[in-house]
Amino acid sequence: MLGPVPLKEGIYWVGAIDWNVREFHGYSTSRGTTYNAYLIKGEKTALVDTVKAEFFPEMLDKIESLVNPAEIDYLVVNHLEMDHSGGLPRFMERAPNAQIVATDNGIKGLARHYAGEWPLIKVKSGEEISLGTKTLQFLEAYMLHWPDSMFTYVKEDKLLLPNDGFGQHFASYQRFDDELSSLETVMEEAAKYFANILMPLAPLIPPLLKKVEKMGLQIEMIAPSHGIIWRSHLDKIIQAWTDWSTGVAEDRALIIYDSMWGSTDRMAKAIAQGMSQAGLENKLLHVRRNHYSDIVKEILTAKILVIGSPTINEGIFPSVAQLLSYLKGLHPLKKKGVAFGSYGWGGEAIKAMEGEMKDMGIAILEPGLGVIYVPGEEDLKSCMQLGERIAANL
Ligand code: FEO
Repeated sequence: MLGPVPLKEGIYWVGAIDWNVREFHGYSTSRGTTYNAYLIKGEKTALVDTVKAEFFPEMLDKIESLVNPAEIDYLVVNHLEMDHSGGLPRFMERAPNAQIVATDNGIKGLARHYAGEWPLIKVKSGEEISLGTKTLQFLEAYMLHWPDSMFTYVKEDKLLLPNDGFGQHFASYQRFDDELSSLETVMEEAAKYFANILMPLAPLIPPLLKKVEKMGLQIEMIAPSHGIIWRSHLDKIIQAWTDWSTGVAEDRALIIYDSMWGSTDRMAKAIAQGMSQAGLENKLLHVRRNHYSDIVKEILTAKILVIGSPTINEGIFPSVAQLLSYLKGLHPLKKKGVAFGSYGWGGEAIKAMEGEMKDMGIAILEPGLGVIYVPGEEDLKSCMQLGERIAANL
């Protein structure tokens, strides 16, 4: 088991690596995750966040190798979600002298999660707690990811602890961005994390980043509560977050579809061919062959969504309907879309998909394309031409 990892003098990672988790409230976590907790030692000592309940013994071992838990003065709860607060009740048994520091929403939420009666300190943006040689400053981060969320900033070390902010579900023994052989893999996981967890809250991010700037916080290291710690590539992750939260995307199309008897699949491939011939980068994503959380990760960075479904029972094929329902809750920004699909008689799925896309703010590029039963040569030509027109209209 990996022991405590120093970040700065007197500041240690004391979290846990979860190699085997493959699902996080519905989102697939194929590379596992970490629950990062941080111990900060000044003249006084604080623990920032805990870990998922089952990993409490791992965190406790690390803490005990550094300090006697009974001598810890504060437990800063940056976020109440149980992947970070699950270890809290047992930690408070071991640290009876610790006061819990949280936002107003954090304190209200704490009472809804746990029955303990603990000493509480409510903090607002800009307020500080001195540990002697180190100062913790707090910044409320409402809805990033829950109403209780906040960031903790260690002034003397220019270290930001933003909990879910800048996180990735990524298990590794390496703790820092510059220790990895492939930063791209971590960026991919950061995008997936953003797409599935933070996309609906994206409009709150630019004002928060501005607030950080206005407060004059100089940041040399960002230590989130999932995944690796940013110390050499801060510009890269901050730029990515800025882009993702403002809808910056690539000139790229996704053809996202399902098929009953292969007709919609043939249409999808012909549309892709038309796009490719016209020079538009594109990708085919069969909804039942790709996890919806991976599809949403792709959607984050693509401008065009071409969504296909056969008509079934006067509506959208269930797998496509499920994806659209999930996507609607994520409020994708600045996307353009087209619907297509095969049908036997009614063809209602096309209008229904267009309605769903419009409801979530996707601009419809042109009327959807339907084909009766099985596409013939002329139909496939129409699909290719659709792909070409989409490429031309980008
Ligand atoms: Fe990592 Fe919102 O919890």
